[in-house]
Amino acid sequence: QELQLNLEQIEKGGYEHFMLKEIHEQPNAVIDTYRGRMLVNEGIIRMAGVDDHIEKFLNANRIIIVACGTSWHAGLVAEYIFEDLARIPVEVEYASEFRYRNPIITDKDIVIAISQSGETADTRAAIQLAKEKGAFVFGVCNVVGSTISRESDAGAYTHAGPEIGVASTKAFTTQITVLTLMALKLGKANGNVSASDYHMHLQELALIPEKIKASLTSDAHIQAISDIYKDSANFLYLGRGFNFPVALEGALKLKEISYIHAEGYPAAEMKHGPIALIDEQMPVVVIATKRGHYEKVVSNIQEIKSRSGKIIAIVNEGDVHVKELADHVIEVPDTLELLSPLLTTIPLQLLSYHIAVMRDCNVDQPRNLAKSVTVE
Ligand code: G6P
Repeated sequence: QELQLNLEQIEKGGYEHFMLKEIHEQPNAVIDTYRGRMLVNEGIIRMAGVDDHIEKFLNANRIIIVACGTSWHAGLVAEYIFEDLARIPVEVEYASEFRYRNPIITDKDIVIAISQSGETADTRAAIQLAKEKGAFVFGVCNVVGSTISRESDAGAYTHAGPEIGVASTKAFTTQITVLTLMALKLGKANGNVSASDYHMHLQELALIPEKIKASLTSDAHIQAISDIYKDSANFLYLGRGFNFPVALEGALKLKEISYIHAEGYPAAEMKHGPIALIDEQMPVVVIATKRGHYEKVVSNIQEIKSRSGKIIAIVNEGDVHVKELADHVIEVPDTLELLSPLLTTIPLQLLSYHIAVMRDCNVDQPRNLAKSVTVE
């Protein structure tokens, strides 16, 4: 037993929980994801799974992304990125819904299955159905040799390394990294991304690991904020555009490990429902980075403030406007709007982690949840 405990401590590498370790591993995990694939100076993105089937991708009518949980959120981010860079229509489906609703799929469709474990039963069933209908199936998995990676026609691993914490963290950011590389590659190949834009994106992507590191330095500040709100009964998370799925993911993280009810919403939808919930008891986490709808988000923040909601805003370094309105701000470095989810998601992971620890929850193995859901 003692040996077992020691072994676990070694595996945690000095961190109190696997989740915290995995959060801190993200700068390196992202580097591992693009190592050997992204050659910035040469201007090359090499991905065998895409290169070998480039015609299929370039002739595709649309891409359908199927996934569950956090992987589904990565799919939503990817929808925005693919449509922006590659101009290929994308739909994102819960694998569990897709498999049972007689979807329209043809051999001109590409189905991308995203799965950390590569074993999720619903996602497996979804790709089975897609294959039967003649679609080309591309797997984005973390676990090498997993069932979904084997059952796909082609794929790309995330190379995030083992993720032990049930709440997914580094799998999410590395999934987004792989999908961004794919979208950039396809956008260049089909002429939707100019040579200069392509290089600019590669250069920015190369800076992301350092910027994740910088985002992680807010840890103590986030811990202090967590202490103030740890007993809240509800949380609302808001974001727009590329950061709308990040709001969903932030809310999911909090629910999963702290058992606090949390909802993620596109900020502009707040007025169609959630605004009715806002009072002085309601912490609202708002992603308000300066690129993309900043002014709109600021007016959403004003609406929350006028109803006495407590505002925790994720802003860019040097922000002044939101700082005046919010109760708390957490800074992340600036980057391209399209890459911002890789940074804005970091403080949300830390917030849920600290709140769960303060509530004495079993962070790495939350009740009722499994790391990989291999049955329906
Ligand atoms: C479970 C895990 C989640 C994960 C989801 C999908 O619910 O607890 O963290 O996001 O399954 O898993 P997958 O392995 O397919 O990404």
